[in-house]
Amino acid sequence: MRAKSFLLPLILGCLSALNLSSMAQVKPRENAQPQQPQTKPTPGEAGKYSGPGSCASSNCHGGVQPKGLVRIAQNEYSIWAAQDKHSRAYTVLSNPVSLRIGKILGLEQAPNKSDKCLVCHALNVRSDQRAQTFQSIDDGVSCESCHGPAVGWLGPHTLKNWTHEQSLKLGMYDTRDLAKRTDRCLTCHLGTQEKEVDHTMIAAGHPDLTFELESFSSVMPRHWRPTPGANPWLSVQELAIGQTVQLREALHRLDRRASGPNWPEYSEYECFACHHSLTKPEASWRQAQGYDGRLPGAPVWNPARYAVFRHIAEAVDPSTAKQLVAALDKIEALSGKPGVGDQVAAQAKSAAELADRIAQRVQAQPYDQALTVRLLQSIAGDAVMISGQGERSAEQAAMALDSLSLAYSRNEKVANQQELRAAIDNLFQQLQSPSAYNAPRFAAQMQKVGTLLPRTQALSLTDVE
Ligand code: HEC
Ligand code: HEC
Ligand code: HEC
Ligand code: HEC
Repeated sequence: MRAKSFLLPLILGCLSALNLSSMAQVKPRENAQPQQPQTKPTPGEAGKYSGPGSCASSNCHGGVQPKGLVRIAQNEYSIWAAQDKHSRAYTVLSNPVSLRIGKILGLEQAPNKSDKCLVCHALNVRSDQRAQTFQSIDDGVSCESCHGPAVGWLGPHTLKNWTHEQSLKLGMYDTRDLAKRTDRCLTCHLGTQEKEVDHTMIAAGHPDLTFELESFSSVMPRHWRPTPGANPWLSVQELAIGQTVQLREALHRLDRRASGPNWPEYSEYECFACHHSLTKPEASWRQAQGYDGRLPGAPVWNPARYAVFRHIAEAVDPSTAKQLVAALDKIEALSGKPGVGDQVAAQAKSAAELADRIAQRVQAQPYDQALTVRLLQSIAGDAVMISGQGERSAEQAAMALDSLSLAYSRNEKVANQQELRAAIDNLFQQLQSPSAYNAPRFAAQMQKVGTLLPRTQALSLTDVE
């Protein structure tokens, strides 16, 4: 199983330092031929994709050093080209692992020519959607994969007094809206009807798709600054909205898959319910924990996208959260049984509606110190339950505790910072060999983290509702 090595920089909490120090060596990539945008869109070309070369000029987004005084640092292209794995997403399709995936799956074309892979690994738009400037798809997941087709706004967006809203009208995708942003990431990091990573692909060698908006944005790394006057607790909101949208979209996917012909689809289950190493019975924490009503040994639905979200939902909308818990319990109870795909699908559909209702509260909720502390305490306080749900849930908890405690320390003084970072670091280390994951050990470490977390007497507004 792939080590989640990408999480390590987060633990060290040194991402911003890393950003700046490695910038000096950045050179624009050779195949990028910067063009100066015209301020008027070419007639008939609006709505088309121009390709990342159009953003690469050093006085547009291709600067090497971040610009200080303006809000847009103008080094976005350089960050993407040098540090962001998205810029290499196409290249990886020719590596030995990809070639073997292609062979195992019996693809008719090489992975870097096959739509099965290009849908997520490149700006793979139809030829009639490509402007004349569009050079090739070998730039991987590039600017317009997230920001939308640029030809309409490329020229005018550099004008003085031009607004974000004006660009949106001309086809820019609203990545500033956190729910829309998460949606966009998840088209590739969770999949859609047209873009799939299933257990067959995973067994052929594809990494499993996991996600958490705040952590993944930091790892990318971010090539943007907060908008002026943004809430200093914005990253807590990012975590909360990211969790909500990923649960909702995962339930939509479960609905699709459970009502389709390939159910049961193993990648909807907790991976390490099947892929764990065996021990003597005396040493088995799974047997010690028991099977909670399901048939011993039956695989279990993966509740990871819910493990952390539950705490957010209970903080912002306790009554809908209760209904959601009941719906998800039913999914869990059904998931180990044969021949009930339709029932799973129906439950998933109604649970997705509840998640969507909570999403509106999560959007409107004010994010502050009190809520941050409350979430930290409540997640750490749920150590035994979350850990017992399996490795993927533990991973979400580790990422959430990491994100939330970093948000806290950016705003408040933390006396035991080093000790706390080391304790969270240990959580990630326990996830390095997931087949050997041990729930009681992980729970004990989460409880230790809990003793080191900040506390507050202040109640958040939702407490008094
Ligand atoms: C639903 C979108 C999607 C599809 C379809 C898809 N991938 Fe991926 N792929 C991803 C994402 C997202 C990642 C990064 C996952 C992570 O690290 O969390 C990834 C990662 C990979 C990696 C690991 C890259 C690395 O840096 O180690 C390889 C190899 C890969 N994909 C090959 C393929 C091949 C070959 C195909 C087609 C058979 C394919 N992918 C289809 C989304 C997709
Ligand atoms: C994987 C998705 C993704 C890719 C690829 C990507 N961006 Fe972004 N970008 C974002 C997100 C998310 C934000 C933050 C939200 C926002 O400000 O729109 C952002 C913000 C920005 C901003 C700041 C906007 C503002 O108003 O603060 C600029 C400028 C930008 N990106 C340019 C680029 C350029 C140029 C490229 C290609 C070299 C690129 N981006 C590639 C996701 C992406
Ligand atoms: C068009 C598809 C697509 C979109 C949209 C997308 N990604 Fe990705 N992402 C990928 C692929 C493919 C990879 C694997 C690249 C590789 O490893 O070479 C990847 C890799 C990553 C990685 C590196 C993971 C690792 O294992 O190191 C992070 C972090 C990431 N994406 C975050 C995001 C975030 C945050 C967003 C939304 C703002 C986003 N992505 C949007 C396709 C996408
Ligand atoms: C219901 C049980 C079950 C679940 C759940 C399950 N798998 Fe599998 N997996 C299997 C079986 C059976 C094989 C085939 C093993 C073989 O052929 O040797 C397999 C094969 C694999 C392989 C290839 C074998 C290897 O040694 O590399 C990988 C990788 C894999 N699974 C990863 C995952 C991931 C990641 C998840 C969760 C997203 C998952 N599996 C969920 C049963 C399961």
